[in-house]
Amino acid sequence: MSNSLLKIIKERRSNFRFNSTPIKDEQLNLVLEAGRWAPSWANTQPWRFIVIKDKETKEKICSMVMGITNINMKDAPVCIAVCVNTKEDPFHFIEDGAVATQNMALAAHSTGLGSCWLGVFSLHDEKKSTERKIKQTLKIPDHWRLISLLPVGIPKIKETKSRKELSNILDFNSFSAREKKASKLDIENKKKPETKKFLSPSSAREIEPALV
Ligand SMILES: Cc1cc2nc3c(=O)[nH]c(=O)nc-3n(C[C@H](O)[C@H](O)[C@H](O)COP(=O)(O)O)c2cc1C
Repeated sequence: MSNSLLKIIKERRSNFRFNSTPIKDEQLNLVLEAGRWAPSWANTQPWRFIVIKDKETKEKICSMVMGITNINMKDAPVCIAVCVNTKEDPFHFIEDGAVATQNMALAAHSTGLGSCWLGVFSLHDEKKSTERKIKQTLKIPDHWRLISLLPVGIPKIKETKSRKELSNILDFNSFSAREKKASKLDIENKKKPETKKFLSPSSAREIEPALV
């Protein structure tokens, strides 16, 4: 069945290289509106979206995220920092930030722009984490958390990534204990340990054993 939303969902990719051409205000507004209309726990809408256009700030942040991505963020004309207020929503602030990020990524794609979700959020809120450093740079208060950075711009390269087959991730009525047969993509992924370089330092420590 063809569906325009599913088409956008399927065609969106994380982009790592951008033209420095500025994006139109209408495009940026559309992206931000998509974030604003995301669902949130008890409709608390605990967000603050920081639009970063300043070259110096982008460069500073870019140097901070270098360990967790190979994206050249400096080239992206805009980077959106998705922040959430943990006092407004102490229970589901991570999901609130995540769903707004994905809404914005999809909206960016729908208007011909590319983006890349950068998972700067640090699960245990370590003092020396990338999240803390960026929060300091952007003057984000302590009780606010930085869930993601979303560089947005005109992509230079068409990225291609695939997905596991639905049959590999689907159960009916209860969780199935049987091992799913490895799909072609699972096998390809196993051959590519470099996937690890996209994990943020904090989450990498927890997830890495599962990848090996
Ligand atoms: C929660 C989350 C965190 C991510 N963090 C990073 C990151 O720190 N660096 C990076 O290069 N990509 C990051 N990504 C992008 C993923 O690597 C990418 O979505 C995945 O490889 C699938 O590729 P696609 O988005 O092109 O379909 C993140 C994505 C999500 C959803």
